[in-house]
Amino acid sequence: MAKLDEKIGFIGGGNMAFAIGSGLITREFVKTSQVLVSGPNIENLARWRDIGITTTDNNCEVLDKADIIFICVKPHILTPMATHLRGMYTTTAKDKDKLFVSVLAGVNLKTLEEKFSFVDGLKMIRTMPNTPMQIGEGITVYTPGSYVKQQDLEKLHLMLNSLGIAQQVPEAMIDSVTGVAGCGPAFVYTIIEALADGGVKQGVPRQMALQFAAQMLLGSAKMVMLSGKHPAVLRDEVCSPGGATIVGVHELEKGNLRATLINAVEKSSQRAAELGKK
Ligand SMILES: NC(=O)c1ccc[n+]([C@@H]2O[C@H](COP(=O)([O-])OP(=O)(O)OC[C@H]3O[C@@H](n4cnc5c(N)ncnc54)[C@H](OP(=O)(O)O)[C@@H]3O)[C@@H](O)[C@H]2O)c1
Repeated sequence: MAKLDEKIGFIGGGNMAFAIGSGLITREFVKTSQVLVSGPNIENLARWRDIGITTTDNNCEVLDKADIIFICVKPHILTPMATHLRGMYTTTAKDKDKLFVSVLAGVNLKTLEEKFSFVDGLKMIRTMPNTPMQIGEGITVYTPGSYVKQQDLEKLHLMLNSLGIAQQVPEAMIDSVTGVAGCGPAFVYTIIEALADGGVKQGVPRQMALQFAAQMLLGSAKMVMLSGKHPAVLRDEVCSPGGATIVGVHELEKGNLRATLINAVEKSSQRAAELGKK
C-alpha cells in the first residue's frame, strides 16, 4: 500500500526527477498510477513509461492533475516554462492546496514565488536534492516559502527522508549545500574511477578494481557515519607508522587533494548561485 495518497507530478522528467520519482516508487511511497511526468519531448520520457508511469508533453496537465508538483527543469528554462503555464492557468479553489517543490540549483524562493505568482496562495518549497535518492541514499535540504503549512512540510519531509536524509535549512545555506551534496556525487564518482585506475595500474582487473574502490568508499563513509569518530581519527587508525598507507597519504597531500576538493565545493556553490541569477 502506498504511504501517500496524493498525486505527484514532475514538470521536467530528466535525471534529478527520475531519481526522485523512481526512488519513491521503489520504496513504495507512491504507486505508479499516482505519478505523472511532463516534458517537451515525449520520446525522452521513455524510461518513465518503462516503469509504468504516465507521461505527457503538456506541463499544464501536471499542473492540473497533480497535488504535489516537483519542478525539475534546468534553471534557464524556469522563465519560459512558468510564463507558458501562467497563460494557461485557471484558478480553482482546489488549486490553492497544491504544493510546489523546486529542485532548481541557485533559484531562490523570491524568484520562484514571482514566477509562479499566478497561483493564489502559492505554497512553494525550495529544495536541493541529489541523485543517490534513486537508491534511497540521497540528501535533500529544503526551505519553505511563505504559505507552506507545517503539515505540508511534514509530508514533504517524510517523502524525501524515505529517499535518504532530508533536513530543513535556512535558505542562505542551500547554494553551499549544493556544492557539497548536490554536485558531490560527481566528485565522488571521479574519485572512485581514479582509485580503480590506480588498482588497474597495479594489476587488478578493471571490474574488480571498480567494485573494490566503490565498496571501500561505501564502507569508509559508513565508518564515519556509524562510528561517530572524526575522519582524521579513522585515517590515523589506518596509517601504521612507517607503513604503506601513510606513504599514499603523503602523495595525496603533495597532490593537494584536500585543497582541490575544497575548491571544487566552493566553485560549484558559486556557480549554483550564478545559475539562479541568469
Ligand atoms: N542532476 C543532478 O544531480 C541535480 C542535483 C540537484 C539539483 N538538480 C537540478 O535539477 C534540475 C534538472 O536537472 P537534471 O540534471 O535533471 O537535468 P536534465 O536531466 O537535463 O532534465 C531536465 C529536464 O527538463 C526537461 N525540459 C526542458 N524544457 C522543458 C519545459 N519547457 N517543460 C518541461 N520540461 C522541460 C528536459 O526535457 P528534454 O530532455 O526533452 O529537453 C529534461 O528532461 C536542474 O534545475 C538542476 O539544477 C540536479
